[in-house]
Amino acid sequence: MSTVFDAADVQGNILRGYRKPRVRYLILEVADRMAARRWFAASTTGRDDVPQITTGNWGRTKPETCFNIGLTYEGLRALGTPGSSLATFPNEFIEGMNARALKLGDVGPSAPETWPDPFGDPRRIHLIATIYADEVAQLDQVQQRALTDGEAFKLLGALEGCSFPKDAVHFGYRDNIMQPRFAEVHDGQRYEDGQPKAPLGTVLLGHPTNFEGLRWRVPQPEALGHNGTFNAFRVLEQDVVGFEEYLDQAASDLLTRPQIDELLPPGAEEKIGQALSIEGLSRHAALREVVAAHLCGRWRDGTPMALSPDAPDPKVDQANFDYVGNSRCPFGAHIRRCNPRGGQIVQRVANNSRRLVRRGMPYGPLYDPAKPRDPTKPEPERGLLGNFIGASLGAQFEAMSCDWLNLGLQDPRITGSNDPITGANDPGTSWFDLPLKSGTTIRLRGLPRFVRTRGGAYAFMPSIPAIRFLGSLMA
Ligand code: HEM
Repeated sequence: MSTVFDAADVQGNILRGYRKPRVRYLILEVADRMAARRWFAASTTGRDDVPQITTGNWGRTKPETCFNIGLTYEGLRALGTPGSSLATFPNEFIEGMNARALKLGDVGPSAPETWPDPFGDPRRIHLIATIYADEVAQLDQVQQRALTDGEAFKLLGALEGCSFPKDAVHFGYRDNIMQPRFAEVHDGQRYEDGQPKAPLGTVLLGHPTNFEGLRWRVPQPEALGHNGTFNAFRVLEQDVVGFEEYLDQAASDLLTRPQIDELLPPGAEEKIGQALSIEGLSRHAALREVVAAHLCGRWRDGTPMALSPDAPDPKVDQANFDYVGNSRCPFGAHIRRCNPRGGQIVQRVANNSRRLVRRGMPYGPLYDPAKPRDPTKPEPERGLLGNFIGASLGAQFEAMSCDWLNLGLQDPRITGSNDPITGANDPGTSWFDLPLKSGTTIRLRGLPRFVRTRGGAYAFMPSIPAIRFLGSLMA
């Protein structure tokens, strides 16, 4: 199989994001194998009775709507993929996300047994079809076309997300700043972030990886595996009120600490207030932002702590920085755990090998902290519909979730603590260290679990030729 890369062979949301404001996920079960195969065969032909899979060859003009698919192991089986081929897929994919709960921190309130339908019965989840569009009406049209024959699939559930102004996600941070960039796709100057370009094999099967001479095993036959990738689709509920309450509590706690003036020198609140365009920002309110910035490694406007540890600064480059020397970005901050960049870590060889393509969008209404809550009504559910894409679920998504986010194995200074934003925290044992200029730290405790898993699935995203291959299966 040729390793020459052609973007037209690959599904379009893998190497570049569409940046559409709306997304809908259709969770589908194969109802009729033959009809499903016909649907697959038709989805790459240009016919308009079935939505056409968007390829990576969309150039500079984005299509009005984009459509992509991922199949679970059960989905490949339901289509009649031969057993000899199924056996060549990696174990974590074969077992599926529910069975890998322990590795992912999906325990207690995040345990798969608590996931609502359709995620409670993973054997029935076969296909995750994703529609991206500008308007809800367009999502409806594509959904209708996807299910038009009424035979191929049964719709088990649909989930919808919508982007917020300034790329914000719940908890108020700017997201979608960093993605791995690929020499074959991204213009080097436009996407300068000081990090090595990711080899294609980081996300596409059959291509060179960061590990000299090593490639991830390609599921067989090559026609099915080559240029495919794996996606960890996650429904992550965010406790937005709990997060804001924790910032309040942590700020009040810090005000009582002897080193507080080192963390927030007298008058520094003014500088933070200026950056946030808030006049007369109190020390308490400024400290809430200081804590939020430390937990993520970025101020909520996206300014990296590594470059501007004392206040947000819109002039600072949000992408191009590193964790070297005495960086004041905490070792335990979310973005430093997920991508240690050039910083020293225990698994030195893994620095650039676990990079994930992230395609996520919030669900649920935007939270307005200024609006008083009605204590008689439950808060609406809010969260992130996240896709974490990479060539190896085990060596990338699972290794990151388990070793780095939840065990902190990358640095002895955080080992035993969980990621403060998305980790499986328990207020009784959790801790987080804020570094000070003097080289000492202030420890915060009592972080609850802010993010709870509500569902998800491991999906294989086949290449365009592989979709045709699946459509042409016989017997
Ligand atoms: C609801 C849960 C989550 C929230 C609110 C969240 C939020 C954020 C934010 C605000 C950023 C900074 C924006 C950027 O650098 O692009 C970020 C970066 C990142 N997150 Fe998360 N995240 C969540 C879950 C996860 C999970 C589960 C993973 C992986 C298993 C993950 C992996 C990453 C990675 C790889 C980066 C980029 C870091 C870098 O390259 O510097 N996130 N996240």
